[in-house]
Amino acid sequence: MAEAILLVGGKGTRLRPLTVNTPKPMLEVAGVPFLSHQLARAKAAGVDRIVFATAYRAEVFEEYFGDGAAFGLELDYVTETEPLDTGGAIRNVADRLRSGPDEPVLIFNGDILSGVDLVGLVDAHRARGADVTLHLTRVPREKLSAFGLVPTDADGWVTAFREKPQRAEDIVTDQINAGCYIFRRSVIDGIPTGRRVSVERETFPGLLAAGARVLSVVEQSYWRDLGTPEAFVHGSADLVLGAVESPAVPVTARPDLADALVLPGADLDVDVKVGGGSTIGANALIASGAEIIGSVIGEGARIEAGAVVRDSIVGRGARIGAGTVLDTVVIGDGASVGARNELRCGARVWCDAAIGDGAVRFSADES
Ligand code: GTP
Repeated sequence: MAEAILLVGGKGTRLRPLTVNTPKPMLEVAGVPFLSHQLARAKAAGVDRIVFATAYRAEVFEEYFGDGAAFGLELDYVTETEPLDTGGAIRNVADRLRSGPDEPVLIFNGDILSGVDLVGLVDAHRARGADVTLHLTRVPREKLSAFGLVPTDADGWVTAFREKPQRAEDIVTDQINAGCYIFRRSVIDGIPTGRRVSVERETFPGLLAAGARVLSVVEQSYWRDLGTPEAFVHGSADLVLGAVESPAVPVTARPDLADALVLPGADLDVDVKVGGGSTIGANALIASGAEIIGSVIGEGARIEAGAVVRDSIVGRGARIGAGTVLDTVVIGDGASVGARNELRCGARVWCDAAIGDGAVRFSADES
């Protein structure tokens, strides 16, 4: 199998305030940093060496994963002094690769949860003699404008790239770039050095214009970009519920709660309701009568009596007061939301912020 590059240098702005303290790929999803799932899947596909392309909060990755021995992988880290964007980041790690000029190198975005058949992707790349192969997936028409569209011919060769189309006439396909590529090693060496390069906006269109063989594999296995809070909670729940498999999902401390993952040290009162693929972080406290549905509760967080938390993320050490209702919101690390508040529809509370008792009733419907 091939060696791989993992792109993990983005700022994760759409997930703020969660990404203020933790880079997006290190946020816990189903009980472990998201990258643990990606590394486990890459290893299961036969990848044995991964180079991390880091920029934002670079030190956190090596502190956690080290040389990779504990994960059965050889890991290397390269940090950009200034973020070089996706293509620049790929080029920037080229001198750490060991593959020969014609060998395939796998490249992963650090925020995609996917069940794609990596071995099948590499096999197709080799068998068809491609310079670059992209995994494409299909999404419903109303969501297409958030993605890079990739039309192809009948044989799967890519014919164009349409990055985040805004006009109806640019929506020429429902196939999108799924953020997982195979590059012939020599193609990586051809990316310009020392400046920002977007692989989606510059490298891919440039390769097509130069007549390179750009192949696609359209695969409809599980796929989710965890870049937004809504996708993040659903991705985590899907892992807990087994809708997508990962060898890295830890064993629950509460096997009696079938639809939840409870980490060691979490303290749940007898009459709580916890389900919908929720994760309860280590040492979190869930008090009497609280309901946690489809949510991620961070390590050491405290959910007080009768609070309801639905499709939401509660950061580490945060406190949610008695009777408060959270629905589709993000609470930053260390924040304190007093009793009897109501926050809904995408509200975000910043890290360490404090909201008093009965102070907020927020819902997009009423604002
Ligand atoms: P948003 O700010 O919320 O859009 O998130 P993001 O910064 O992660 O950007 P995006 O989701 O578009 O990035 C796709 C992948 O490329 C992610 O895995 C990022 O970590 C990675 N990435 C984006 N920009 C850079 C960069 O300048 N350097 C490196 N090394 N990786 C990057």
